[in-house]
Amino acid sequence: MSKMEVKTSLLDNMIGVGDMVLLEPLAEESFLENLKKRFDHNEIYTYIGSVVISVNPYRSLPIYSPEKVEEYRNRNFYELSPHIFSLADEAYRSLRDQDKDQCILITGESGAGKTEASKLVMSYVAAVCGKGAEVNQVKEQLLQSNPVLEAFGNAKTVRNDNSSRFGKYMDIEFDFKGDPLGGVISNYLLEKSRVVKQPRGERNFHVFYQLLSGAPDDMLKKLNLERDFSKYNYLGLDSATVNGVDDAANFRTVRNAMQIVGFMDDETQSVLEVVSAVLKLGNIEFKPESRVNGLDESRVKDKNELKEICELIGIEQTVLERAFSFRTVEAKQEKVSTTLNVAQAYYARDALAKNLYSRLFSWLVNRINESIKAQTKTRKKVMGVLDIYGFEIFEVGHIVFEQFIINYCNEKLQQIFIELTLREEQEEYIREGIEWTHIDYFNNAIICDLIENNTNGILAMLDEECLRPGTVSDETFLEKLNQICAGHEHFESRMSKNSKFLNDHTLPHNCFRIQHYAGKVLYRVEGFVDKNNDLLYRDLSQAMWKASHNLVKSLFPDGNPTKINLKRPPTAGFQFKASVATLMKNLLTKNPNYIRCIKPNDKKAAHIFTDSLVCHQVRYLGLMENVRVRRAGYAFRQTYEPCLERYKMLCKQTWPHWRGPAREGVEVLLKDLQIPREEYSYGRSKIFIRNPRTLFHLEDQRKQRLQDLAALIQKIYRGWKCRTRFLLMKRSQITVAAWYRRYAQQKKYQRIKSSAIVVQSYIRGWKSRKILRELKYQKRCTEAVTTIAAYWHGTQARMELRHLKEEARNKRAVTVIWACWLGTKARRELKRLKEEARRKHAVAVIWAYWLGLKVRRDYRKFFRANAGKKIYEFTIQRIMQKYFLELKNKMPSMSPIDKTWPARPYLFLEATHTELRRIFHLWRCKKYRDLFTEQKKAIYDEKLEASEMFKDKKALYPSSVGQPFQGDYLEISKNPKYQKLSTLVEEKIILADIVNKINRANGKATPRIFLLTKNSFLLADQKSGQIKSSVPLSDLTSASMSAQTDGFFAVRVKEGTPAAAKGDFLLSSDRLIEIVTKLYRTCLSSTKEKINIEISDEFLVQFKQDKVCVKFVQGSPKNGSVAACKRKNNRLLEVAVPSP
Ligand SMILES: Nc1ncnc2c1ncn2[C@@H]1O[C@H](COP(=O)(O)OP(=O)(O)O)[C@@H](O)[C@H]1O
Ligand SMILES: [Mg+2]
Repeated sequence: MSKMEVKTSLLDNMIGVGDMVLLEPLAEESFLENLKKRFDHNEIYTYIGSVVISVNPYRSLPIYSPEKVEEYRNRNFYELSPHIFSLADEAYRSLRDQDKDQCILITGESGAGKTEASKLVMSYVAAVCGKGAEVNQVKEQLLQSNPVLEAFGNAKTVRNDNSSRFGKYMDIEFDFKGDPLGGVISNYLLEKSRVVKQPRGERNFHVFYQLLSGAPDDMLKKLNLERDFSKYNYLGLDSATVNGVDDAANFRTVRNAMQIVGFMDDETQSVLEVVSAVLKLGNIEFKPESRVNGLDESRVKDKNELKEICELIGIEQTVLERAFSFRTVEAKQEKVSTTLNVAQAYYARDALAKNLYSRLFSWLVNRINESIKAQTKTRKKVMGVLDIYGFEIFEVGHIVFEQFIINYCNEKLQQIFIELTLREEQEEYIREGIEWTHIDYFNNAIICDLIENNTNGILAMLDEECLRPGTVSDETFLEKLNQICAGHEHFESRMSKNSKFLNDHTLPHNCFRIQHYAGKVLYRVEGFVDKNNDLLYRDLSQAMWKASHNLVKSLFPDGNPTKINLKRPPTAGFQFKASVATLMKNLLTKNPNYIRCIKPNDKKAAHIFTDSLVCHQVRYLGLMENVRVRRAGYAFRQTYEPCLERYKMLCKQTWPHWRGPAREGVEVLLKDLQIPREEYSYGRSKIFIRNPRTLFHLEDQRKQRLQDLAALIQKIYRGWKCRTRFLLMKRSQITVAAWYRRYAQQKKYQRIKSSAIVVQSYIRGWKSRKILRELKYQKRCTEAVTTIAAYWHGTQARMELRHLKEEARNKRAVTVIWACWLGTKARRELKRLKEEARRKHAVAVIWAYWLGLKVRRDYRKFFRANAGKKIYEFTIQRIMQKYFLELKNKMPSMSPIDKTWPARPYLFLEATHTELRRIFHLWRCKKYRDLFTEQKKAIYDEKLEASEMFKDKKALYPSSVGQPFQGDYLEISKNPKYQKLSTLVEEKIILADIVNKINRANGKATPRIFLLTKNSFLLADQKSGQIKSSVPLSDLTSASMSAQTDGFFAVRVKEGTPAAAKGDFLLSSDRLIEIVTKLYRTCLSSTKEKINIEISDEFLVQFKQDKVCVKFVQGSPKNGSVAACKRKNNRLLEVAVPSP
């Protein structure tokens, strides 16, 4: 299905009029009325011919969607309701298809929506032009250049939260297919004074706030910045944040955009460093310092900030500090240095900040241009978009030099507007072959001349004043103006020769007023000279040039001392004039498209339409003028085809189809409608209609005719519809009837057919049954005959069989009887044979048994079972016999100590052998003992006693075993020497020997005679035989000695006895064993009590009153192998015993 083309027109469903040219009557009131009406219905765009008026809606409308783009794409300008897309589409198509360079001029005052409009145009063009990876990248870069420039060049003002503070002209370049190749951006006059000071309620450039709130902490630290806005003098505090604007998020957007546009990371970083340096410059403060000559000289107050700035941009601190304190003026060969006072220092500081920032901005624009410039050298088509800040008329305080310049630019734009519109109009008339009639309109060339004239224009005079030697001030400049421009009809001033202003009190003394095309504007001259000079002390630019920061250095090429240029740099006004001239020249070569932006209210609010404000803008934008120019000849024009298409229903000849050229059709049509001939003109391709009224008349008639046509169409359609329905119903009825008849006949036929079949089947059945019955009878007859024959044959056969069977039976009986007889005989014979065989077997068995018995009886005595035992007993007897006999011959000696004993011959004799040995030994001992005398027996008794007491207890004992106990070694009675002693002792002496008595005091030994008798023991002097002490044995309690080899022993005395007064005896003798044994035995036999024998290496001895401990230690005493005694202290007597 082919797409049905719906022809629409701007004139359909119009609210007010979509094109102001059609406004009737044309007056300011109706103009405003129309704008307002459309604005209230969300129609923010209205045409004046091909110019688009845009009223800022201050809210987002759903009219920029991709669907809208599609709707406006490739449609004619007047086909749809007014839209900025329509203009963009027209411009783009004309560029692509007709190879005409385009420019889109967007004007309007601040906040009217110029920048938005430029963005819309760019985005529309981006959406409709070619696609592809490369093209998309170009588009993306072009679009992303916007956020970057806005961050650095836009600021919040009282009129607009995102006001562009620079003029921007962007050329977008396309190839022959209409694909974008790249672009070039030019910037005009950045409002740099904003860097150091902002009017109330306004902000500095966005980038400062974005940097402070959006940069990550580490970046801020690197840049030596703090987040707090209030720390910076250059940031006005009263409106630091803007409603609905997220500076931090925007910062990220800007960084991202910079990346897309192609900024390297280090470039971005350098840019931010310069921005921080500017911000920090504002914090440098100066203080006065008096000098000898009475003048004040400025000094930096806090050097810290200065130091940080210097670090940031790599300048030696002293260099910058000096640049803030001195100013060097060079003239010819002379160099004069003067010091700056505080005010001058501040001026220098601010000038530096402004210069640094504006140069950075220009650098940014150049850098972006480098990125987005077209790569190919092929011929390009260009679409320029101009977004320059608008004409402004404010209360006195605000209008300053910059605005003067801007207004000048707007004046120039108006001029080319007039020129181009008229030229276009004229060209069209010529093209269409229509006679040109003169149009009366205001030409503002005279105002432009007032400003830009090279000899006596205002700018020229300002430059002259700036260059003039001697004292120059804003006042002298005004005076000059008064002299020269006084006669100009658009110039007004109190002092001018024109006396009519003398009493005009709205005109202050320090001001002049210019009557612009758009209205009168009052300019205060204050700051004109200064700003035009745009002076930066050379010391500062030279200081900046010395920076090691590459970007900063490159921004100040004029600081290079080798390239000193003594000529003054061109003034700001001069530069601007030149760039405006270039711009104008550029624009004049292009096909212009206008967008006129209007701000509906001062509150930035939606839905409010302030008549006075709009009226003012309409006036100074020259819109009425515009309409008038447009209508000067003919108000409406249209090519013949759409015109005929639209109005052909108004004439019988052209309706419904006109076969022939469109122009003739239109001619016929207009003649038929009897429209006065002077109301229209035929061009070559267009019909020109002089008056909108005519057009509206046509439109009304068309509307009426359309209604009539609609009624006609409706009528015909209804008739056609009813007839069609009737025919259809009739056709249906016939079809239904035919179908029904057919159906009924079919039913009847089927019934008859089935009845015939039933009757037929009955008859056939009856016939068949009859035949069947007959056939059955015949069959039965044949069967009967067969049966009878069969029975007869059967009887015959049975009889024969019976006969044969009888015969056979007889024959068999004979055979059986014979067989039975033979069987009986055989069985009898078998029985007899079996009997005989059994008997024979029994005889054989019995015989065998009997033989066995007989043999066993004969041979029993020869069986081995009896022989074994007897042989065993016999063998044992023989062995024992032999053993005893051999033992008798091998007997050992009779000595009890003989340990020998013959070896055991057999293991089973072990017990016997040992027992025999034991018995033999006992017997041998008995024999030995029987040989002892009474005397010897006593001696051995004694030895035995000693053994029991000391064996394994005292180490001295073994040496005593071999010695016979003689007892009396001294032979007292026989020795004359002891005559006296023997007389004193009447009793028998049991033991006499020399012992050593140990001195109690020092442990020294003294020999004494030791005598033991039956009742007592004595100690006597060895030489004299005198008795030293005598103790009855009943007074003794115990004897103590060590377990060692020594002969020391103590004899203890019972307490309370006379002997006890002297204490115990400590003696020493080699014959200790004998002495103690005898002492013990004697005591036992005389007192019947045992004394205690104590063997210990440590015992106590009672000496008189003291108890002394006798301690035996092992060691090597000095006197060799003899034990020695030594008194250690009054409690200890130590005996050193030689080690064994
Ligand atoms: N077509 C529009 N649709 C919605 N809002 C708009 C439109 N045009 C302008 N605005 C609003 O007006 C504000 C100012 O517009 P802007 O283009 O920056 O003004 P100018 O550049 O003329 O100073 C924008 O920030 C935006 O909020
Ligand atoms: Mg703007």
